[in-house]
Amino acid sequence: MMNENNTTTVGSDSQAFSEAVCEARPAHISGVAISDEVVLETRDVNVYYGDHHALHDTSLAFHKGEITALIGPSGCGKSTFLRSLNLMNREIRGCRVEGQIVYRDHDINTRRENLYELRKSIGMVFQQPNPFRKSIRENITFAPKRHGLTDRAALDRLVEESLRGAALWDEVKDKLDESAYALSGGQQQRLCIARTLALNPDVILFDEPCSALDPISTLAIEDLMNQIAQERAIVIVTHNMEQAARVSNRTAFFYMGDMVEYGETDQIFQRPNDARLNDYLTGMFS
Ligand SMILES: Nc1ncnc2c1ncn2[C@@H]1O[C@H](COP(=O)(O)OP(=O)(O)OP(=O)(O)O)[C@@H](O)[C@H]1O
Ligand SMILES: [Mg+2]
Repeated sequence: MMNENNTTTVGSDSQAFSEAVCEARPAHISGVAISDEVVLETRDVNVYYGDHHALHDTSLAFHKGEITALIGPSGCGKSTFLRSLNLMNREIRGCRVEGQIVYRDHDINTRRENLYELRKSIGMVFQQPNPFRKSIRENITFAPKRHGLTDRAALDRLVEESLRGAALWDEVKDKLDESAYALSGGQQQRLCIARTLALNPDVILFDEPCSALDPISTLAIEDLMNQIAQERAIVIVTHNMEQAARVSNRTAFFYMGDMVEYGETDQIFQRPNDARLNDYLTGMFS
């Protein structure tokens, strides 16, 4: 039903879907987390690829201890927005990002920012697992060594802690010096998460991290996200609505370059306000 703001109250299809996905939510994920601490925030961020204005005036805040899901149809700007959060769009020729990206009270969208240090604090995990062509151990130690960690015992501890943190230790502890390429896709993705965890980032950005994985590996990654979210802010782009409902505390819906609706995940799925979000949830466009 439309109202004067061109929004809609929830329809029965959407309701049925929402009830089904929300039933799958672990109890501890329901609602928002305890922390009100904003770690990262965007203020009126606009992104252009040449003349193409791909993302419009997007303002969002990410909290410590919470997982935020970014959802919306293909091409609506989710990855564009996610990449702006650790200045990854700077690697794309012709891409321009305007607006403030505030990490711990400091605008990082300036030319002075040290990208290497920044990406230690704001790590990223991509859709396709992309381990280095190195051993499992070296995948973990490569960046910490470059950041100056040389003590052998400390590096060994870090390898174990990171792999345990990514729920991979038991599967690989006897073959740490074998190639990361010998692991399965799901294991490679957990190795990429372990590699990110080894730098102890404050924020982790996930761009469709499970789209190349089977359902069992997907659930393993979701469990993992819940565990590692306690001490940091997590942002995940996903096309999988069940996944968004299962893992996230808050959800933002993007549509054609606009961030159209943002709220607690329960509200977004059970009581969407915007007609386009309602249609998206009921599968009218994907
Ligand atoms: N490297 C690029 N160069 C030029 N245009 C781009 C580039 N990357 C994205 N775009 C454009 O920006 C818009 C948003 O794309 P983006 O990849 O952010 O969408 P998305 O929501 O992540 O889509 P998907 O769900 O398919 O991954 C699209 O119109 C896309 O064509
Ligand atoms: Mg994308």
